[in-house]
Amino acid sequence: MSKKLTISSIKKSKGVKPLVMITAYDALFASLLSESADILLVGDSLNMSFAGKKDTISATLQQMIYHTNAVCAGAPESFIVCDMPFGTYVTKESALENAIEVFQNTSADSVKIEGGADKAHIVKYLTDNGIAVCGHIGLLPQSVRSEGGYKVKGRTETEAKELLADAKAIEEAGAFCMVIEGTKADVAKEVAQSVSIPVIGIGAGADVDGQVLVFSDMLGLFEAFTPKFVKKYLDGASLVKEAVAQYAHEVTNKKFPAEEHTY
Ligand code: KIV
Repeated sequence: MSKKLTISSIKKSKGVKPLVMITAYDALFASLLSESADILLVGDSLNMSFAGKKDTISATLQQMIYHTNAVCAGAPESFIVCDMPFGTYVTKESALENAIEVFQNTSADSVKIEGGADKAHIVKYLTDNGIAVCGHIGLLPQSVRSEGGYKVKGRTETEAKELLADAKAIEEAGAFCMVIEGTKADVAKEVAQSVSIPVIGIGAGADVDGQVLVFSDMLGLFEAFTPKFVKKYLDGASLVKEAVAQYAHEVTNKKFPAEEHTY
């Protein structure tokens, strides 16, 4: 069966229909999420929401391949993007070697790498060698330690100019779309208008070409903190806790299993 979206249909969606991207880390959720999402992103955010680490830095290529395989199995008809984790695209040669590892060991359609003009040569090297690349500009979670926290971008004129240059460089290097994260909405809008490929926002306002959210944030499963840009579409944590408390209550009181659950 053919994939729902292709590189070409994603590019053509610009100005026609906003793209719906959501993260997925396992087959079960991938299957559920794929019913409404255009693109599933196996984000290295899994290092936080799945593996319980404090940031994305320690995610490994093997971890990303493992989760991407699960997502591909759960949503075989979805367009799937695999994040290249920290330290796996320091040089263009290591980037290609690692991206090939992803492509040969999963059926991901694309990889995503963080960075702007400084990473354009890497995006070009990958695309020249048959690896589709989704860029990622603005707030870069993999830079959290070097920047001393998560800083919203586009607050100054210099930053706005840099972002426009980043987007242009990533487009010219051959990326088919890019994520823009944690950026002032007016600047993100200008960025989206300045390139011909879709710019998918997270914490970047409404005037871009699509939105991406981390699934555990938007389903209200992650309770530790809620960034301003997250909308909770479900109170998942409460629902799960209530259901498990009910199960525990019924087991304790010998109400479960009932007759209909018994052979
Ligand atoms: O890792 C991730 O989930 C991401 C999104 C926040 C865009 O890169």
